[in-house]
Amino acid sequence: MKSIAHLSPNPEPFWSRSQLHPASPIPPRQQLSLGLIGPGRVGNALLNQLRSNQLRLIERTGVQLRLHGVASSKKMWMYETDAMQQWHPGNESHPVDLEAFVRHMRSAGTQVMLIDCTASDVVVEHYEQWMQNGIHIVTPNKLAGSGPLDRWQRIQRAGNSAHFRQEATVCAGLPVVQTLRDFIDTGDELLSIEGMFSGTLAWLCHHYDGSRSFSALLRDAHALAYTEPDPREDLSGMDVARKLIILAREAGLSMSLDDVQVQNLVPDRLGEVSTESFFSNMEELDAMMAEKLAEARAQGGILRHVGRLDSKGHGSVGLCILPPEHTFAHTSATDNVIQFDTHRYHDNPMKIQGPGAGPEVTAGGIFADLLRIASSLPRQ
Ligand SMILES: NC(=O)c1ccc[n+]([C@@H]2O[C@H](COP(=O)([O-])OP(=O)(O)OC[C@H]3O[C@@H](n4cnc5c(N)ncnc54)[C@H](OP(=O)(O)O)[C@@H]3O)[C@@H](O)[C@H]2O)c1
Repeated sequence: MKSIAHLSPNPEPFWSRSQLHPASPIPPRQQLSLGLIGPGRVGNALLNQLRSNQLRLIERTGVQLRLHGVASSKKMWMYETDAMQQWHPGNESHPVDLEAFVRHMRSAGTQVMLIDCTASDVVVEHYEQWMQNGIHIVTPNKLAGSGPLDRWQRIQRAGNSAHFRQEATVCAGLPVVQTLRDFIDTGDELLSIEGMFSGTLAWLCHHYDGSRSFSALLRDAHALAYTEPDPREDLSGMDVARKLIILAREAGLSMSLDDVQVQNLVPDRLGEVSTESFFSNMEELDAMMAEKLAEARAQGGILRHVGRLDSKGHGSVGLCILPPEHTFAHTSATDNVIQFDTHRYHDNPMKIQGPGAGPEVTAGGIFADLLRIASSLPRQ
């Protein structure tokens, strides 16, 4: 391994290790061999979090996390011993070969976990087989939970051999999937889920008061990096539809993307043009949006972009007119807010609100999933 010397030391956290366990650190009771696929924005943020918490975790929980491999779309880095503190893209690498990567990972320990931080369907195609071989998977990649239903069901069945978790697929680090799982596992009855799952559209709706055109606000949102590089990905509603499908399936509903009614805010004519051409013609969005705003005002309401799912398997995504006192009227910036209506939380539904995107919070959600799996494994 190269490039060790220039890695900066981890900052000392506000708690000190000696304060937590002054005399007797817990001996490692669990070793988890990790392989990261996709060292991009989220993958790198996760690695930084793992690095700076590696020692603390051994001391507090007895869980020893060891990094044995990293793979990108072109290269892979494999290590016989733990490379958590040393991994760097400049280290010696090989052309990527996921089969060889996974063979290496399987030889790295008894409990192996792959963390898929890509948005690649090619990687998801391997999940079933990896899990059948006892490899745990944690991912923020939405394509497993919202992809073809039969593939999802095969991944679920492979859950007899290994764990699968995907908290960060919905609203990044907000505990949305885990909360839903807890409702189901403890026998609560889910009635509906309603939320503003798109931070971009939350921001746009919040600022759209008619004083400036919708396209002008969209340009601002793009300049602030709130939108995807191509804002049509946000406006199409498909990303929100994927999140609804992930939640529906976690709740035990056999739904697919086709089952969700999605309002695409991109006019047909702009759907197929290049990104540059879309930017030159964004004003074509303005008439439709002005009409929606006028309709909301005429009803004394506000305009919000909402995803809805009910227990009968009805899902919808699109603009809604809500009363001004509605919870969704009072969010800030690009916050996501999700409201669970269940048998127990019916008169006053449970709400989860906060930043729903960004590498740091997404990595935090992945890290929490990883620890949940670690804590459920038998002691070694
Ligand atoms: N960013 C966020 O705020 C956020 C929030 C929630 C969820 N997510 C999800 O998190 C995932 C990662 O997002 P990101 O923002 O970190 O993306 P990113 O910066 O584009 O990183 C993607 C990584 O995946 C690698 N990759 C792509 N195809 C691959 C393949 N076939 N095999 C191995 N590696 C492959 C890329 O390698 P190369 O560099 O070689 O191409 C890159 O390292 C996505 O599924 C995204 O939807 C992101």
